[in-house]
Amino acid sequence: MHLPTVQREKYLLRPWDPDDARSLVIHANNPKIARNLRDGFPYPYTLKDAEQWLRMVKENRMDIILAIEVNGEAAGGIGLHSMKDVHRYNAELGYWLSESFWGMGIISDAIGVMVNYAFTHTRWLRLFATIYEHNTPSMRVLEKNGFTREAIHKKAVMKEGKLLDEHLYALLKEQWIARRDSLPGNSPASFQ
Ligand SMILES: CC(C)(COP(=O)(O)OP(=O)(O)OC[C@H]1O[C@@H](n2cnc3c(N)ncnc32)[C@H](O)[C@@H]1OP(=O)(O)O)[C@@H](O)C(=O)NCCC(=O)NCCS
Repeated sequence: MHLPTVQREKYLLRPWDPDDARSLVIHANNPKIARNLRDGFPYPYTLKDAEQWLRMVKENRMDIILAIEVNGEAAGGIGLHSMKDVHRYNAELGYWLSESFWGMGIISDAIGVMVNYAFTHTRWLRLFATIYEHNTPSMRVLEKNGFTREAIHKKAVMKEGKLLDEHLYALLKEQWIARRDSLPGNSPASFQ
């Protein structure tokens, strides 16, 4: 899968680089981030975790996994992960950003850019994301990008010793085409 580079006003989306390990640890090592992600994104987040992640990304050929660079540092990540078999026209969206840059509209815009890329340059027809019940900001950034809540999976998640509901959000290519002019991240993005 081609990994695009996209310059936006406040950040750069680009492929991960092995030299990102140090900045990755600085920005990822935060319990407020880990509590919203799967256990593969741990807290504490060590240099070993960062190196393991960067090795996995380098070997990956199926997905679009990009770094979010802010002020010259890899300060977050966003990815579309391809599903298999009968779900092969689906991709799962995941993202996180350093707390230093929350509330600046970066992820709202980055989701828009990724959706635009996915529906214009890949075979995927349906993008989805799963959000834990307490993560209102994450639901908000998806809704702003045209995703709708399709289901609530009751007590589907065990996180930090508690059972949580998981909210399933999705966006179909046909829904995106119908609404694309009014969605964020749709200002002309030149993909390299
Ligand atoms: C969720 C996350 C990705 C949002 O990134 P961000 O760049 O700060 O998001 P944005 O600035 O684009 O938008 C955040 C939106 O949530 C809203 N928001 C923030 N806190 C909120 C709250 N407690 N309740 C309701 N809305 C809230 C903001 O007002 C904003 O919406 P607006 O533009 O309509 O005002 C970021 O907080 C993060 O990395 N969290 C930890 C990891 C994570 O949750 N990843 C997603 C897993 S599904």
